[in-house]
Amino acid sequence: MSQTGKHDTATVIAENAAKDPKDRVLIFDTTLRDGEQSPGAAMTLEDKLRVAEVLDEMGVDIIEAGFPISSNGDFEAVCEIAKLVKNSVVCGLSRSSFADIDRAGEAVKFAKYPRIHTFISTSPVHRKWKLQMDAEQVIDAVGASVSRARNYTDNVEWSAEDATRTEWDVLFRCCELAIKQGATTINIPDTVGYSVPEEYYALIKRLREEVPGGDKVVWSTHCHNDLGMAVANSLAGVRAGARQIECTINGLGERAGNAALEEIVMALKVRGDILPYWTEVDSTKFVRASKLVAAVSAFPVQYNKAVVGRNAFAHESGIHQDGMLKNIETYEIMRPESVGLSKSTLSLGKLSGRAAFRDKLKQLGYELGDNAFQDAFRRFKDLADKKKLVFDEDIEALVDQEVATQYDRIKLVGLSVAAGLGVAPKATLALEIDGQRHEHETVGDGPVDAIFKCIKALVPHEARLPLYQVSAVTEGTDAQAEVMVRLEENGKEVTGRGADTDTMVASARAYVAALNKLMMKRLRGPHAQAMTG
Ligand code: KIV
Ligand code: ZN
Repeated sequence: MSQTGKHDTATVIAENAAKDPKDRVLIFDTTLRDGEQSPGAAMTLEDKLRVAEVLDEMGVDIIEAGFPISSNGDFEAVCEIAKLVKNSVVCGLSRSSFADIDRAGEAVKFAKYPRIHTFISTSPVHRKWKLQMDAEQVIDAVGASVSRARNYTDNVEWSAEDATRTEWDVLFRCCELAIKQGATTINIPDTVGYSVPEEYYALIKRLREEVPGGDKVVWSTHCHNDLGMAVANSLAGVRAGARQIECTINGLGERAGNAALEEIVMALKVRGDILPYWTEVDSTKFVRASKLVAAVSAFPVQYNKAVVGRNAFAHESGIHQDGMLKNIETYEIMRPESVGLSKSTLSLGKLSGRAAFRDKLKQLGYELGDNAFQDAFRRFKDLADKKKLVFDEDIEALVDQEVATQYDRIKLVGLSVAAGLGVAPKATLALEIDGQRHEHETVGDGPVDAIFKCIKALVPHEARLPLYQVSAVTEGTDAQAEVMVRLEENGKEVTGRGADTDTMVASARAYVAALNKLMMKRLRGPHAQAMTG
C-alpha cells in the first residue's frame, strides 16, 4: 500500500536546494520504537509497516523501527520495515550487551541504509539502581558496544540514557570514547524530561565544542515531555549545534511522550527568522500521519494539540472570525494546507460506485489490496445507507479500521442489543474466532456492559478495562462514534479502536480490536527486562 499526497518530497528537496547544508537538521522518527513503548500503544506488524511507509514518503531521515531483542515480534517488524523502506535510514535499538547488538545487526541488515543505535545509562541514579555498575564499568561498556556495532555497519549511533542527569565529566568521557570507537551520531537524551532549554543548550554546546572529535559527529537531541518542554529543549539543542532531532508523530511515547515531530518541523518552518534551520520533511503529510498513528496506536490526539489537533486551525470566537475574514494573518501563523489539512469535504453518497470509491481512496492517500478494498467498499455502502452525508473523515475512519483489523483472529460478526428505560439491557453477540462462529447472549448493568460480558464469555480472559472512551468522527447526530477501549493484563496494556454510526457496534469493535492486540502481545512473549524511555 502507498500513501500519496499533493506535494511530494521532491518539491521539498527543490525548495531546500538553496539552503545552507550546515543548517540542515536530520529528523529521526522513533514513533515505532519509543512511541510504541507507551503503555497501551502496541501496534501490529501491518500497522507498523503502514506507518513506516508514510514516514519514508514524508522524507523522515531516519526511522527507528524497533528494539529487535525485546521480542520476536519486534525483530520481525524491524526486518520487514528494513526491507520495505526506500529512502530513509532504518535503525534498530540495542542495549550495550553483545547479544542485543548482534540481534539489532541481524535485523537492520536488510535495509538499504542500516543504522545500529546502542545505548547505556550513564547517570548516577541509573548506574546504581538499574545497572549496578560504577562509572568506569559503564565507560568500558560504551567502548565495547560501539566497536561491536561497527562490525555490522559504519552508521552507529550511541546514546547516553539519562544524559541530562549525568555528571559532566562522566558524560564527556563516554562521548569521547564512543566517538573514538567509531560512533557517527552521539545522542544526548533528556530521558525523564527534566531539563530546561537554557541548561540543555549549554550541555550540547559544551559537548560539541569540548569533546575531542565532537566536530566530526552529528549531535542529536532526544527529549521527553514530562515538564512539557520536549520541543523547546530539542530546538535549544539545535541552536547549540545539534543536527539531529529524535521525535515522534503526535508526540507519542512513554509517560508524557517525546518531542512531537510535526511541532518541531513547523517551528523550524514558521520561525526561520530566528531558527534558520531546515529539514527535508514534507509537512503536508502531517495530518494524514497523525491520523494514521492515532488510529493504529489507538491513542487519540487531543483536540487542542499544536499543528494536528482538531481545533488547531478552528476560529470560534466572533472577534477572531471577524479578523480572519479581513486578513487571515490576524490569527493564523501557518496555513492549514501546509500541514495537509483540507476543509471537511462532502465525500461520496450511497449511489457512488466502486470506481468513485477507489478514486476517493487514492485522493485520501490509500491504495488497498483487492480483498481489503472489497471489504472497505461493503462497509462504505452500509455507512452510506445509514448516514446521509459521508465525509472524508468518515472514509478515513472506516478504512483505517478495515486495514487495522484485516488479519485479526477474532472478528465481530453479529450484534443486537435491547436497552432502554425499564428494560434490562441485553446483548446477543457473535464472534468469528479463527474462522468459527460463536454466539452468546447475556444481560448487563448497561448495554455496553452486556456486550463486553458476551465477549468475555466467548473469549475468556482476565484483563481489566482501565479506559472506555467515546468521541465523534464528524459533527451531527448521525456521526460515526469512535470508541477507544484499553485492556490491561499482567501489567501489559493494549488499546483498541472501533468506529461505527452505532455506538454499541463501535464499542464491540473497539473491545475486539483490543483483545486481538492482547493475544498478539501474549504470543510475542515478555519484553526484555530493562526497557527504556
Ligand atoms: O529516552 C531515552 O533515553 C531513550 C534512549 C534509549 C535513547 O529512549
Ligand atoms: Zn526515549
